[in-house]
Amino acid sequence: MQLGQFVSRAWEIGPPEVLVRRIDVAEIALGGSVAIGPAFVAALTSGEHETWQSLTASASRQHEWLLGRLALKDVVRAWASERGQTLEPSDIEIHIDDEGAPFARCAALSGVGGSPVISLSHNSGVVVAAAADPGALIGIDIEYADRKIDVVARALSETEQAFVDAEAASVLDILVAKEAATKALGVGLGGGVSRWPVVSVTPLPQGVMVDVTSTTDLGLVLPVLVLHPLDTVLGICYIAPDIDAA
Ligand SMILES: CC(C)(COP(=O)(O)OP(=O)(O)OC[C@H]1O[C@@H](n2cnc3c(N)ncnc32)[C@H](O)[C@@H]1OP(=O)(O)O)[C@@H](O)C(=O)NCCC(=O)NCCS
Repeated sequence: MQLGQFVSRAWEIGPPEVLVRRIDVAEIALGGSVAIGPAFVAALTSGEHETWQSLTASASRQHEWLLGRLALKDVVRAWASERGQTLEPSDIEIHIDDEGAPFARCAALSGVGGSPVISLSHNSGVVVAAAADPGALIGIDIEYADRKIDVVARALSETEQAFVDAEAASVLDILVAKEAATKALGVGLGGGVSRWPVVSVTPLPQGVMVDVTSTTDLGLVLPVLVLHPLDTVLGICYIAPDIDAA
């Protein structure tokens, strides 16, 4: 990896307001594991480097964490590039808040209204990162289509079971929608499958729109576009910035 290069590829998928990039782990892995060279590590700020070094308990988690940071930095750089700003990965620092939700800090973006909102998902083969304008809500989740989901299937509401029985949505579609929706809120699902009921599923030419609600915040509706690229299920929750609140 050289200065200015992207590790990830642009992925034109989902709502036009959302930038998505993906890293296919096999494409950058040597002999089955990712070679973490000096150039990858140079993409980190000193604070991120400290965090990366602290993750030594699990090599796989260290890899996953690094690929996630590279994907997030890439999607922020791509978003900045669309606004005429050329950034290096180390110009951007990725933090997580108290709930684990990632956010970007980049001083160079103060002139374009601040850093974009971001979201991240990884499985063993692919890492996806998404970005949208500051003030928006964004959540992304990707799962392999053959993921075992018996626990979730047992926790479906009657309404959700009816969607599955009618083949309007699969159990995995419902889980991915809940993961993406709760990431957009910055809380994460954390096993609380029944706390986030799906109330409607609308077929679309490219996938399904799944509306996720909350048992504790009546009136909240989080729309998630659920798509089925290749052997995966991808959910993207996007809510535009509230202009009145700005
Ligand atoms: C952590 C969680 C947000 C997503 O986990 P996941 O789907 O297993 O993993 P993903 O790869 O899709 O997403 C992980 C990323 O989500 C982001 N994330 C973590 N907490 C978040 C939060 N509260 N809000 C938004 N994003 C969050 C992080 O960037 C994380 O990657 P990182 O740790 O490398 O920074 C959360 O939903 C969770 O606890 N999942 C556990 C599994 C679960 O509950 N499954 C339900 C079926 S039984």
